[in-house]
Amino acid sequence: MATIVERYDISKQHFWLHGPRSGPAVEFDPTTGIWNVYGYPEMHDILGDPATFSSDTMRVLPKGLMPDDEEFSLSGFLTQIDPPEHGKLRKLVSSAFTRRIVADLEPRIAALTHELLDAARERGRLELVTDLAYPLPVIVIAELLGVPSSDRALFKQWADGLFERDQKISLKEPAETQDVDLQAAFAPWREMTRYLADHAAERRRRPRADLLTKLVEADVDGERLPDDQVVNFAIVLLLAGHITTTMLLGNTVLALDAFPEQQERVRADRSTIPAVIEESLRFFTPFAALGRSTTREVEIGGATIPADQMLLLWAAVANRDPRQFPDPDVFDPGRDPNPHLAFGRGIHFCLGAPLARLEGRVAMEILLDRLPSLRTDPGDPAVFMPTPTMTGVRRLPLVVQP
Ligand code: HEM
Repeated sequence: MATIVERYDISKQHFWLHGPRSGPAVEFDPTTGIWNVYGYPEMHDILGDPATFSSDTMRVLPKGLMPDDEEFSLSGFLTQIDPPEHGKLRKLVSSAFTRRIVADLEPRIAALTHELLDAARERGRLELVTDLAYPLPVIVIAELLGVPSSDRALFKQWADGLFERDQKISLKEPAETQDVDLQAAFAPWREMTRYLADHAAERRRRPRADLLTKLVEADVDGERLPDDQVVNFAIVLLLAGHITTTMLLGNTVLALDAFPEQQERVRADRSTIPAVIEESLRFFTPFAALGRSTTREVEIGGATIPADQMLLLWAAVANRDPRQFPDPDVFDPGRDPNPHLAFGRGIHFCLGAPLARLEGRVAMEILLDRLPSLRTDPGDPAVFMPTPTMTGVRRLPLVVQP
């Protein structure tokens, strides 16, 4: 373990990468007012009980922390909605974002990967994140939605503005006294909303063969999605559709650099790529923590949590719980089964998991084919994202053979 921490200069904030953690499975943090859940069985049970553990975390935030003007709405923001609305909405959006649509993307993902790697070869360097892991999923999701992929510098600016923050919000302090610039925090959100609202309105006027059109036309049992829900779902896709898969690709290459014997194995047998991807999701869990709020007093992991409390479910830590995963700090794609919680579990299980897995598999197949070895550059080390609730590299320079 020491090698990973030393080799890649992993910050203390990403504590789950620093070796085994001691302490209770569920723990209250008096400085933030948040209950942290670290244990696998506890997180597993919580995700299976949406009636007690609501996804609507906004309702327990201090007043004033979220904007309450008309322009800002979380309606249709799937990850924040509870049953029964969640089921209805999920059915509607699933009817537009089907497995078939995703599976059909394979040739395009492969062609894009080759194009991006060709361009990097011409430049004579390969910084995996900038050259492949970031642009690939963004172009794929932009093309799928039907927004110009040439606007991707804009998407990156928004995503960085929303995610690359290392400020901690406290539930105990009023919004006014917190050291968080709320205007700045929500500015990218507002820009994204306006941008996607313009595109959605355009699709209503002039339908095209894209996901945005399918969303404005989606109809389940005579019900259609209102405009703000179409826009918010498109935002979820645009954000979730790239930042997480970017992390998955970077993390997988990093893991194969850190564990060269596993790189040799997967080179010898490409059919193990999906297992490598699953182990990468467990080992470097991209969404390290998920939010929930209690709807009633509940006992879990030896703790009694009152109603209306905010919980952070540390998937990255649960995925290293030795009660579930023997030798959790070893990267072992041979784990079978590998029931990691990187995509969540239950009714909110990641809707984009098939796309993330497909992009991961295709990109890794091509990377292994084209590069005789995937090695980081010791003179130009990988840099992790500073966000404490995410595990992912934002720079990953690789050594390229002449
Ligand atoms: C939900 C992780 C890629 C779309 C989730 C959740 C997790 C997750 C943990 C559950 C959140 C919760 O329960 O609170 C990931 C990871 C990804 C990834 C690790 C890549 C490695 C994607 C992609 C898309 C996507 C590519 C779409 C293009 C969604 C959506 C939901 C979701 C729409 C909400 C589902 C619901 O609430 O019913 N994702 N995701 N994700 N993800 Fe992903």
